[in-house]
Amino acid sequence: MAEQHTPVALVTGAARGIGKGVAASLLGAGWSVAITDIDESAGQAAAEELAWLCAAGGRVEFIPMDVADELSVAACLERVEEDFGRLDGLVNNAGIADPDSGPVEQLSLEAWNHWLSTNLTGPFLVSKHFIGLLRESGGAIVNMASTRALQSEANTEAYASSKGGLLALTHALAMSLGSSVRVNAVSPGWIDTRSRQQQASDPLRPVDHLQHPVGRIGQPEDIGSLVAFLLSPAAAFITGQNVVADGGMTRKMTYVE
Ligand code: NAI
Repeated sequence: MAEQHTPVALVTGAARGIGKGVAASLLGAGWSVAITDIDESAGQAAAEELAWLCAAGGRVEFIPMDVADELSVAACLERVEEDFGRLDGLVNNAGIADPDSGPVEQLSLEAWNHWLSTNLTGPFLVSKHFIGLLRESGGAIVNMASTRALQSEANTEAYASSKGGLLALTHALAMSLGSSVRVNAVSPGWIDTRSRQQQASDPLRPVDHLQHPVGRIGQPEDIGSLVAFLLSPAAAFITGQNVVADGGMTRKMTYVE
């Protein structure tokens, strides 16, 4: 009989927001999860907060990592090898999530590089270092892109470019890794990453929800369940794709009547 093992995932930028929701979904599905983030105190707190989900059979541990710093990525790989001994799923989620970089004439090269180094170079560096472990397990990668890779508001050049590049990195990696490691992207629309208490005490306007064809804004678990599917054997025939999860917004005609 084949040896049973608990699958292990690493989620970058999982101290809060969508990454934390993804970690929660994976733990709930029985995975072990390495929560990584540049923010050490928030990352440690997230791991403690999610520990109750380990009842499903996995375990959770925080490991600090700055995705834009290759030495930090290499150090995180050592920790994962020591503490988990394998890797089945990588979620490149860490990012500068604020899309507004101001008028392009005033966008400094430094600011541009900050968006690109976290949102695009980060997934490249983390994938590069963890591909060896993923090849051994026949694992999968999910890159967190955005519907802003496909459509734009004004003054979002750096963010949109970083996410467009991430879609291209996704299909290029999928071809390079072929049958060894599947690589897909998820493009969320508007996800409310505030706590449930904050959402209740400071609710969004009805129109914020109702403009979405599904009638509401997204929550981190909407993305978490999709990522858990894409990392699972149920998605074994899917690679190189971008899956949009936006409540239908990018399928909506927006001409003024
Ligand atoms: P968030 O700002 O709540 O969380 C991002 C996390 O990444 C933070 O914990 C932060 O400390 C971490 N981080 C930032 N730079 C890092 C670095 N260099 N190394 C390691 N960790 C780093 O953001 P949110 O909203 O949860 O977004 C997560 C991902 O989803 C981002 O890639 C974002 O672009 C994407 N996204 C978010 C949407 C939304 O509506 N919230 C919509 C579409 C995409």
